[in-house]
Amino acid sequence: MSETIFYRCEICGNMVALIKSGGGTLTCCGQAMTKLEANSTDAAKEKHVPVVTSESGKIKVAVGSVAHPMTDEHHIEWIALVTGNKVEITYLKPGMEPKAEFTNYTGDAEVIFTGENDEIVPNCEGSPCNFVNRSQVANEVTVYAYCNLHGLWKANL
Ligand SMILES: [Fe+2]
Repeated sequence: MSETIFYRCEICGNMVALIKSGGGTLTCCGQAMTKLEANSTDAAKEKHVPVVTSESGKIKVAVGSVAHPMTDEHHIEWIALVTGNKVEITYLKPGMEPKAEFTNYTGDAEVIFTGENDEIVPNCEGSPCNFVNRSQVANEVTVYAYCNLHGLWKANL
C-alpha cells in the first residue's frame, strides 16, 4: 500500500494520517472529519504538484516545478513520503524552501547490462559490455504535499 488517507477537522484544524483503516468514521469537535482529496482545489498545478527525483536511494522532493511561496499567509506545511512499508513526514515552516529529502530508500539491487553509452541493453552481445550493479529505489513511492490554502497534492515517483 502506498496510499495514505489524511483527514482534517474543519473546526479546530486537527489533521491526521490514517495508519490503518478500520472502516469507522473519524470525528473531531463533534463532527465527521473531512477526508482530504489530493489535487482537488483550483490552484496553480505547477506550484503545488510535487516534483520527485531519486538517486542512490535518496528521494528529493520539490514543491512544485515553480517553487511554491513560503510566507506566513501561504506555505507548504508538510511533505509526506509513502512507500509500500513506510510513511515519513517532513514539516516545513514559512521562510524555508518548499523541499524535502528522504534517505535510505534503496530497494533490492539488480544486475543490469549496459552498452557503450550506458544505455541498458537486454543481453550482453558484442563489446563493450559492462555488468552494473544498480540499486533500485523503493518501488511504489507516493509523495504528498499540503498547502495551508490549497490543500493536499500528490505525485508518484
Ligand atoms: Fe498554495
